[in-house]
Amino acid sequence: MRLSVFGCGYLGAVHAAAMASIGHKVVGVDVDPRKIESLAKGEAPFFEPGLQQLLTEGIASGRLSFTTDASAARGAKVHFVGVGTPQQAGGHAADLTYVNTAIDDLLPQLSAGDIVAGKSTVPVGTAAELAPRIAAAGAVLVWNPEFLREGWAVQDTIDPDRLVAGVPSGEEGQRAAEVLREVYHPAVAKGTPFIVTDYATAELVKVSANAFLATKISFINAMAEIAEATGADVTQLADAIGHDARIGRKFLGAGIGFGGGCLPKDIRAFAARAEELGRGESVNFLREVDAINLRRRERAVQLVVDGLGGSVYGKKVAVLGAAFKPHSDDVRDSPALDVAVRLNGLGADVVVTDPQAIENARRLHPQLTFEADRDETIRGAAAVVMVTEWDEYRRELSPEHAGSLTGGRVVVDGRNGLDAAAWRAAGWSYYGMGRP
Ligand code: UGA
Repeated sequence: MRLSVFGCGYLGAVHAAAMASIGHKVVGVDVDPRKIESLAKGEAPFFEPGLQQLLTEGIASGRLSFTTDASAARGAKVHFVGVGTPQQAGGHAADLTYVNTAIDDLLPQLSAGDIVAGKSTVPVGTAAELAPRIAAAGAVLVWNPEFLREGWAVQDTIDPDRLVAGVPSGEEGQRAAEVLREVYHPAVAKGTPFIVTDYATAELVKVSANAFLATKISFINAMAEIAEATGADVTQLADAIGHDARIGRKFLGAGIGFGGGCLPKDIRAFAARAEELGRGESVNFLREVDAINLRRRERAVQLVVDGLGGSVYGKKVAVLGAAFKPHSDDVRDSPALDVAVRLNGLGADVVVTDPQAIENARRLHPQLTFEADRDETIRGAAAVVMVTEWDEYRRELSPEHAGSLTGGRVVVDGRNGLDAAAWRAAGWSYYGMGRP
């Protein structure tokens, strides 16, 4: 099938490449010429495992192309919209500028019978507002939220755990859902749940899923705070409650909390939208979820200060990690980078390393010192702070090796990913999050 994808960021570029890999003919459209130039050459403009290969294969097959020219979307049967919906400057609501611009660019390209499939995360009510404009062009709008995780985006796109299609009522909506089933044929064939809903439900599925995940993380981080007051160990607690199948162990990783381009801004936008709907009360807890999450960053900083005897001023602190999570170069609202910035603000001589995210981190915080080499980062540091659980730090860095690089013996484990007993046995003062 011929498809177009508007927006070629973390979501759209992967979607375009993944759809080409399952046999569709896809054009990716973006207003950023630099991004398009890179993608058109088959070069991933950001780090996402597996994407590079899909781009190379897709372009070589002739099924995948990228352009800044929206008219290239003409003739496609389904047009995906996967542009960003960042937090508004000066507010908590979502900024829909890019969605509106993408729709404006797309409208003149539509033919009767086309389908526009919204993938961006939007406030509930957006699809109903956009639908008449798309219907006026003879096309049908469906809302088809995306649940991919950065770092696993290729796999999540090709083989998602569910597909959701918010469609208009009546036959037209059912027909549009059928077309989407065809688009996602390999997943549908293997029995992936395909849930057809109305617009509002589809939009809400997305934001409520992210709100639930954020709440789960903040729940365990709240338990970490209680553990800190009582000498309990939150990692054992998480293991124990996680054995209850109703609770589950996933997303009970206590640490410096969630960040990235989705969870933080999505819970804020959700609360803002609920407020507009007169239902602010219903999701008031999301403000608490946000507050707990942000407190944990400060806690990590405090552990470094305490570990170094009350002051970090003028002392070298090695920060392992800048990305908001491993397998990503994304530093948007990264808790790791935030910890580094706060330590820098306290006068520490902070050196940050990361296997993928240094370039993005430097652009955002040029005041920090970056070092590509992990061991050079650690060399001579008074404290080592692990804030993004890349294997390079979590599994492959032994306390003995770290100890051979520095006389400093303070390690702060912002992700509870290190083997505390091993680090202690090697002579380190180990500080975890919510652990004695
Ligand atoms: C999240 C959702 O998981 C996806 O389903 C969704 O599609 C995506 O947002 C989106 O809206 O686009 P993502 O932001 O890629 O995906 O990252 P997650 O894997 O959810 O991690 C989010 C943050 O939570 C990271 O900073 C991670 O370190 C943190 N986290 C995760 C914890 O602190 N503890 C955990 O136990 C798990």
